[in-house]
Amino acid sequence: MTRYPSLQHELARSPKTWLVTGVAGFIGSNLLETLLKLGQQVVGLDNFATGHRRNLDEVQSLVSPEQWARFQFIQGDIRALDVCRQACEGVDYVLHQAALGSVPRSIDDPITTNSANIDGFLNMLVAARDARVKSFTYAASSSTYGDHPGLPKVEDLIGKPLSPYAVTKYVNELYADVFARNYGFTTIGLRYFNVFGKRQDPEGAYAAVIPKWTAAMIKGERVSINGDGETSRDFCFVENVVQANLLAATTSDAAARNQIYNVAVSGRTDLNQLFAALRKSLASHGVDYALEPVYRDFRVGDVRHSQADIGKARRLLGYAPQYDINAGIAAAMPWYISHA
Ligand SMILES: NC(=O)c1ccc[n+]([C@@H]2O[C@H](COP(=O)([O-])OP(=O)(O)OC[C@H]3O[C@@H](n4cnc5c(N)ncnc54)[C@H](O)[C@@H]3O)[C@@H](O)[C@H]2O)c1
Repeated sequence: MTRYPSLQHELARSPKTWLVTGVAGFIGSNLLETLLKLGQQVVGLDNFATGHRRNLDEVQSLVSPEQWARFQFIQGDIRALDVCRQACEGVDYVLHQAALGSVPRSIDDPITTNSANIDGFLNMLVAARDARVKSFTYAASSSTYGDHPGLPKVEDLIGKPLSPYAVTKYVNELYADVFARNYGFTTIGLRYFNVFGKRQDPEGAYAAVIPKWTAAMIKGERVSINGDGETSRDFCFVENVVQANLLAATTSDAAARNQIYNVAVSGRTDLNQLFAALRKSLASHGVDYALEPVYRDFRVGDVRHSQADIGKARRLLGYAPQYDINAGIAAAMPWYISHA
C-alpha cells in the first residue's frame, strides 16, 4: 500500500518549507507544481543553464495566486556556496535536482558537467547540513549501473560508469553516504530511470528521446533511432518521480533513510516499441505520422538495457508508481501537442 495519498493529506494539513533546486527544469518544475498545489512553501533555485523561465510561468498559470505567493525563486548557481546557503535557510526538506543531465553532453564537456554535478552537489550538501534541514533527497541516476549486466537492476549491484555523467552521479551517492556517516545528516538518493512528461525540453542536441521524437513526429519530421532499436529502457512518467521524492523526503522510518532507491516502473520498452507507442498515441489525437524511422550507429556511452527492480522503494518508502509507460504517454501527449 502506498502512503502517498495519506502523505498528501498530511502535508496539506500541515505545510512545510521545501527547497527545489533545478526548479526551472523538467523534473524540478513538476515538483514545484505538486508542492504548490498541496499548499507548501517552496524556495526554488536555478541558474537557467538548461531550465527555462517559461516552465515557471507555466506552473504559475496552473496554480492559484495564493499558492504562487508561497513560492520564492532565487536565480543562482549551485557552484556558489553562499547561494546554496541562502537557499537552504529555514528549509525543512531539500529536493536537489539541479545538475547538467545527458550522457552525450558530459562526453562533449566533462569539465562543466563535473563542476555543476560534483562541486555544486557538495556545496548543496554542506549548505543543507549547516542549515539543519530534516532531509536531503537528491536526483541520482540509473547510469550508475554502468556496465553491470544484471537485469533487473538492484540497488547494490553496480558496474563501472560508462560516461563522465555517470561518474558524477555515482560520486553524488558516495558523498551523500559519507555525509550521512560523518555528520548524522539524512540523505536519500533516487536513481531515476529515463523520466518523461510535460515540460521536458524537446530542443537541442541533448534532448531526451520521448520529447525529441514526439516533437519531430508532430512536425512530420523523420525520427532517428540510435542502433538497431532493441536498446531498452524503463521509461518513468514524471508523476511517479514526484511521488518518490515526497515519500523519500518525509519518511520517518530510520531504515528508509540514508538509502539509495531505484525510481522507475520496472517496465522494459525498446526503442522500436516506443516509436510505435508514440505513433499510436499521436494517432488517437488525430496526428497521423506515416514516416518510418531511420537507424543509425549506436551512441557512445549508452547502456544496452535498463530495467529497474523497484522492490526496495515499494518496501521501504511505500512507493507505488501510478503510471506505466502507456498511461504516462497518454497523460503527456496533450501537452506535447499543444507545445509543438
Ligand atoms: N530526466 C531524466 O530522465 C533523468 C534521469 C536520471 C537522473 N536525472 C537527474 O534529474 C535531475 C533533473 O533533471 P531534468 O531532467 O529535470 O533536467 P533539466 O535540465 O530539465 O533540469 C535541471 C535543472 O538544473 C538547473 N541547473 C543546472 N546546473 C545548475 C547550476 N549550476 N546551478 C543551478 N541550477 C542548475 C538547470 O537550469 C535546469 O533547470 C538532474 O539531476 C538529472 O541529472 C534525470
